[in-house]
Order: sequence, then structure tokens, then C-alpha cells
Amino acid sequence: TTEPEIRKGLAGVVADTTAISKVNPESNSLLYRGYPVQELAARCSFEEVAWLLWHGELPTPAELAGLQEAERAQRALAPQVRAVVDAIPTAAHPMDVLRTAVSLVGALDPTAADSSREAEVAASVRLLAQIPAIVAYDQRRRRGQDVVEPRDDLDLAANLLHMTFGEVPDDVVVDAFRVSLVLYAEHSFNASTFTARVVTSTLSDLYSAVVAAIGALKGPLHGGANEAVMHVFDQIGSADRAEEWLDRALGEKRKIMGFGHRVYKHGDSRVPTMKAALDRLVEHYGRQDLAELYDRLEAAMVARKSIRPNLDYPSGPAYHLMGFDTATFTPLFVAARVTGWTAHVMEQRAANSLIRPLSAYVGPEERHLP
Ligand code: CMC
Repeated sequence: TTEPEIRKGLAGVVADTTAISKVNPESNSLLYRGYPVQELAARCSFEEVAWLLWHGELPTPAELAGLQEAERAQRALAPQVRAVVDAIPTAAHPMDVLRTAVSLVGALDPTAADSSREAEVAASVRLLAQIPAIVAYDQRRRRGQDVVEPRDDLDLAANLLHMTFGEVPDDVVVDAFRVSLVLYAEHSFNASTFTARVVTSTLSDLYSAVVAAIGALKGPLHGGANEAVMHVFDQIGSADRAEEWLDRALGEKRKIMGFGHRVYKHGDSRVPTMKAALDRLVEHYGRQDLAELYDRLEAAMVARKSIRPNLDYPSGPAYHLMGFDTATFTPLFVAARVTGWTAHVMEQRAANSLIRPLSAYVGPEERHLP
């Protein structure tokens, strides 16, 4: 018998087709529905990108207005959701709070079991509106601050900042935040998206797929890296200590958070755009010290291991400068990636096949009870 070929971590395995995004590590490019992500980040609102991912084309002005109206109308949290968030100890991670609250949003939606495309688009818009409200509510409660009601004259990015901080920051900050949401929105068959597709493939509902995806995103090898990057920055403290810290960490065979990628081996296509946004924030807040640390650690990592930063490397410090608590960084990733997840749920649904691979058994040979 020939041994089955095993691809650990499914590395290099093409699991299905998708029309949502194309990652090309050779040309270092990422396209959403054919559009380079850099162009979308330069010119589009996050809502336009959400529409593009779900529907395949950019919205007409009327379609965009319809999406904005629906999203803005669903930003308030139900009292049950607030009560459940309040019941969770603040020692719990904000990703656990978000996972729990999103599950409740699903359980409160009487149409949750409806898997028609129309109902799934509506549920996706609902999550698009509710997740920022949950994230903002949780950060404020941890700081002992009162809830801030949504403002329906603001787009999603500005409103999330408003609901978190009680004010709309300067344009440069809102814009950097919008850029991060666009860049985080979608990335083909990454671990959390694949998780969402696996759940959908059993004919489960969209909310269940998103809850499972949140669990997958939490880990530091995936979305949890943006939080972990900030812990690294805090540990290092200042640029002059970067090389020494890195040598010790590499000596201990630790993975350096914010570096490396399963698909991109010559650098992450999204990093230059996010780094430019980070540079504008550094300028705005007068935090050249942070930029120096960033550059020193990157240069040292490239010199030692030839491993380049991924998107979490610039987005972690960017979220820090905006004023978010470090533990809130991965929930912000959820607020963005929920668009890609739900696009994949709908794509999987439309041409479904149960996802159920095989395993090669390596346990004991057949044996019998004495
Ligand atoms: N620090 C130290 N060494 C690394 C790192 C890193 N960040 N990334 C890769 N390597 C080493 C790895 O140990 C291996 O060395 P060796 O051949 O000596 O065993 C070599 O580089 C090749 O790595 P690989 O096995 O091909 O990497 P992978 O495709 O299995 O892992 C990864 C990809 C993202 C899990 C890994 O790079 C990593 O753990 N990075 C740190 C966590 C991180 O930043 N995650 C965010 C990923 S991207 C955005 C997102 O999803 O949020």
C-alpha cells in the first residue's frame, strides 16, 4: 500500500475555487473581486468594500445609500446583548466577549435559520453594524465609561471610533482606521475563513459560521498577532533594545509576532499601505520613538531570518496610537473580516459540498479486550 501524501496544515493544498479574492505571492498582490486592495484602500469607504465582497461589484450610489441606511439603523445593541456583555468578567478576553455576544445576536435574530441569499445578506449587514457596537461597548465598560450611542450621520469607521472614544478623532486618524478595515476585510482561505466555510458546509447557519471564525481568528498565529505585536513593542520598550530582544527571542526559538506568512514569503502585499497609514499617525501623535522601534525590529528580523512583516505588524501599533486597548485589536480585525467571512459563507452555500477530509491513522493496530 502506498502511503497517503499528508500536507501538514494543508499547506499548499487548493481546497476549492473562490471568486472573492486573489492572493498572488509572486507579484505580491491581493485583489478583491479583481480590484487591487491598495486602490480600494486609497479610494473606497469600508461599506463600499463590504458591498463589493458580498455582491461582486462596487455599489451604485443608490445601492450604497441603501446599505448605509440599513447598517446605521442596526447599530444599537439590544438590552439582552448589553446584559450578557455586562455579565462577563473583565478578566475574560474581549475576543471571548465578542464571540459570546455575536452568538447572542444570532440567537435573537428570528431569521437566523433562513439560508436564502437575501436573508444571509441581511444577516451580514446586521453583523457589520453590531460588531463595532459590541467592541466599543466592551472597551468602554472595561474603562468604567458610560455607553456612547451611535451617530447615524457618521460612516462605519468614524462611528466605531465615536462609540469607543466618545468623539470623532481628526481625519488622519479616521482615515488610517478606514484603511486598516479595508486591508483586513478579506484574504482568501485563511484559517478563520476556512473555518467559516467548514461550518457552512454542514448546512449550519451564518451566525454559527461567524462565531466559529471568531474562535479561529483569536489565536496568535492568526488574528491574535496584532495584539501580540503590541506586547512585543511594550516588552522591548525602546529602539536601542530591539536587536538584543530579538536575539534572545530567536535564541529561545520563539515565533516573532507580526512576521512571516503562510502564503507570502517575500513580504505581505498589504503592509506598505498600512505602514504609510501608521507613518501618518506617528507624525500626527508625535511618536517617532514608536516608528524607530518598528524600523529597528523589522531590519533586525530581515537581517537575521529574512522574514518580513505581515499586516499585523503595522496595524498593532496603529491601533495603539489611535487609543484602543491592546486586547481590543483582534476584535477590530473581526469588525473588518466579518465582511470576507460572510462573503465566503454565501459563496460556499451557493455551491456546497460537505468539507470532510481524511486522516491517516497512526494509532495501535486492531486489538481486543482481554
Ligand atoms: N518568527 C520566527 N521564525 C519564523 C516566523 C516568525 N514569525 N515565521 C516563520 N518562521 C520560521 C519558521 O520557524 C520556520 O523555520 P524552520 O524552517 O527553521 O523551522 C521558517 O520560518 C518557515 O516557516 P513556515 O513553517 O513556512 O511558516 P508557516 O507558513 O507555517 O507559518 C505563520 C506562518 C504566520 C504561522 C508564522 O510565520 C508565524 O508564526 N508568525 C508569527 C505569528 C503572526 O504574525 N501571525 C499573523 C499571520 S498574518 C495575518 C493574520 O492572519 O493575522
